[in-house]
Amino acid sequence: MKKLRKAVFPVGGLGTRFLPATKAMPKEMLTVVDKPLIQYAVDEAREAGIEQMIFVTGRGKSAIEDHFDISYELETTMTDRGKSLDAISGTRFRPGEVIYVRQQEPIGLGHAIWCARHIVGDEPFAIFLPDELMAGSPGCMKQMVDAYEKVGGNIVCGYEVPESETHKYGVITPGRIDGRLVEVKALVEKPPQGTAPSNLMIPGRYILQPEVMRILEGQARGAGNEIQLTDAMSQMIGSQPFHAYAFDGRRFDCGDKAGFITANIALALDRPDIGPEVRRWMDANQ
Ligand code: G1P
Repeated sequence: MKKLRKAVFPVGGLGTRFLPATKAMPKEMLTVVDKPLIQYAVDEAREAGIEQMIFVTGRGKSAIEDHFDISYELETTMTDRGKSLDAISGTRFRPGEVIYVRQQEPIGLGHAIWCARHIVGDEPFAIFLPDELMAGSPGCMKQMVDAYEKVGGNIVCGYEVPESETHKYGVITPGRIDGRLVEVKALVEKPPQGTAPSNLMIPGRYILQPEVMRILEGQARGAGNEIQLTDAMSQMIGSQPFHAYAFDGRRFDCGDKAGFITANIALALDRPDIGPEVRRWMDANQ
């Protein structure tokens, strides 16, 4: 079994759900407490042993590249003033740790992933959708990698949501259950309300075999007239092992305003520096 070394981060999306905030700023730079969403995903990838991050980006996204670059002015000024650089210590990529590819037209998640095919090559790879914030210890991808090292093949994260929400996501038809691993019998992207095969959705974390790139090459458009990753993955079921991993942790859909605000409150309450103050305000304003 080949070690999982690479991860693809599709960050080319327009973020229309967060306008006007995302008119001139990438949605991946929205902050939860004091860290942009994209950095939560990168931290999760590093913890899982990912060595090469592939960002599939687009126009107007250069703030992401700057965020992970060296900022000489900032570092020099802070050092001159005797300030600690701890707050930005995780933001700098090592040379070669990141590669940027452009997705020139936003025609679906499947297409975004396919844009990274030459860099992924013939290796298994992870995918992180950064607007899903997965809070756990160990992190979501680390938990998935531990499972992958036992069963191999393809693993998507699985997370239970109320039935009223399944139409917004990729949804799993579950088979045999073995601890946190669930056999995947079928997948469907954004099933119309009332037709979902279960309430187990895919919250934006995947470990896939490179064959999916070949399938994406000829993938027809699906839900929303977009090239869907879910449709390509479903074609691998039966010819390769395919599991869902029931993540042990909290998930926040930060592509959604309520989910984003909830993530900010939950993670702020966890923080020893600001949690007590936020809690006091909440108690006083119930
Ligand atoms: C994408 C995927 C979907 C997944 C979701 C998670 O949908 O296509 O399968 O469940 O992300 O957030 P999107 O949010 O891009 O519509």
